[in-house]
Amino acid sequence: MYDDLQGKSIVITGAGAGIGRATALAFGRAGARVMVADLDRERGAATVAAITHAGGQARFHPCDVSVSADVEALMAATLDAYGQLDCAFNNAGIEGPGGLTHLYEEALWHKVIAVNLIGVWLCMKYEIPHMLQQGVAYLRLADKYLGPLANRLRAIYQPMIRTPNPFFSPRPRPLACF
Ligand SMILES: NC(=O)c1ccc[n+]([C@@H]2O[C@H](COP(=O)([O-])OP(=O)(O)OC[C@H]3O[C@@H](n4cnc5c(N)ncnc54)[C@H](O)[C@@H]3O)[C@@H](O)[C@H]2O)c1
Repeated sequence: MYDDLQGKSIVITGAGAGIGRATALAFGRAGARVMVADLDRERGAATVAAITHAGGQARFHPCDVSVSADVEALMAATLDAYGQLDCAFNNAGIEGPGGLTHLYEEALWHKVIAVNLIGVWLCMKYEIPHMLQQGVAYLRLADKYLGPLANRLRAIYQPMIRTPNPFFSPRPRPLACF
């Protein structure tokens, strides 16, 4: 069923726990080469151990998705390790404590936005150029609140990618963002 994932390279952020970890294990089982990225080194290492124990291929790269240099280094490490970037699951996110809007701490608000919004954008910023060079790739965003943003990004990117644009690429190439 997942033959088409054999040998494919995928970056998964927040792969140390929850949905990211489960996805990493599933891609590992399907024969993909997984780059496990997480803020938490112990959890990330545990995900890698679980994938390799099951016969799959995985590496860990520590990364805070809200830090541009970290995300850039993550994509460089993935290309160094696997030579290509076929898929990305930009999943890392935090819930943040609930609270009344007018009582919410400003620093916490910035933190949630930095991880859940800017972090996803930073991942795409450093993934998409590699994916465009390859031709076809798949991006997945986890956060339900980012759905509208994803659609808008697609709306922005599709015209850029599908119509010849001398400022972007001499040849249009497909990119799926779902
Ligand atoms: N669990 C749900 O019901 C649900 C529903 C809708 C959307 N989501 C979204 O799915 C994603 C994963 O949810 P989950 O429940 O598996 O979360 P989780 O808390 O179980 O796991 C999140 C992982 O991300 C890592 N992480 C946190 N901040 C990070 C950062 N700045 N950089 C890199 N890694 C970081 C954590 O260390 C952890 O390993 C989140 O974006 C969440 O908003 C979850």
